[in-house]
Amino acid sequence: MAETVTLRVKRRSAPDSRACWEEFRVRVPPTANVVAALKEIRKTPVNAAGRPTPPVVWDCSCLEGVCGACAMLINGKARLACTALLKDLAQPVRLEPLSKFPVVRDLMVDRTALFEGLKRAKAWIELDGTHDLGPGPRVQQSLQAWTYELSRCNSCGCCMEACPQVNGRSAFIGPAPLAQITRFNAHPLGESLRAERLEAARGPGGVHECGKAQNCEKVCPKRLPLVWAIAELNRQAVAYSIRQWLSR
Ligand code: SF4
Ligand code: SF4
Ligand code: FES
Repeated sequence: MAETVTLRVKRRSAPDSRACWEEFRVRVPPTANVVAALKEIRKTPVNAAGRPTPPVVWDCSCLEGVCGACAMLINGKARLACTALLKDLAQPVRLEPLSKFPVVRDLMVDRTALFEGLKRAKAWIELDGTHDLGPGPRVQQSLQAWTYELSRCNSCGCCMEACPQVNGRSAFIGPAPLAQITRFNAHPLGESLRAERLEAARGPGGVHECGKAQNCEKVCPKRLPLVWAIAELNRQAVAYSIRQWLSR
């Protein structure tokens, strides 16, 4: 049986316009998630006062916790809207855009800064074409196991939101890109860029700017071992710096 839920949505019609709160009441099944409630608003964009209003804008794609597009602040916590069940949330449910990224409109943000961080981290493996390169190198099962954990990052940005070191006054690259350096440095095919990644990791905004508050790991919807990955990268960056100094 459908139930009525109350949502308070922080709205902004354009990146530079003033934010304001708008309340909605929607009827949804008891098992519905936040995305389902937002879809109901889109079907009938009328606010709790009965006034027609522009439909709420938000991002989503996979609807199963994989793409990371639907990350937002739900009752003050960075989460994925498609995995947040309304029955588990205190009402009215407050929805706000992530605060560490520029707002495009309503709950939609521009996560370019995160993708730029992944570029700085060179979070990829170099290939020299699309021809058959033959079988890849053998990878130990234990290595596969932990790099697989880190490969599950969906670039949602929740960890960046929770990290106090990611802010407008800092160049800190952030937990997600740092963890990907650890992952790609460990892969036998990713090693060719290891030195460049470690240069990025020890440069401005690098791993030394992590304050070790550990908030990132607590909010990660994929439960990535971020604190371990950042500590491991710190160890690699220090060893790399010592080797560089000794080879002068
Ligand atoms: S451990 Fe580092 S990266 Fe994670 S939240 Fe704290 S300061 Fe940010
Ligand atoms: S590390 Fe976790 S919280 Fe951060 S972007 Fe990846 S999946 Fe999201
Ligand atoms: S829509 Fe893809 S993670 Fe929520």
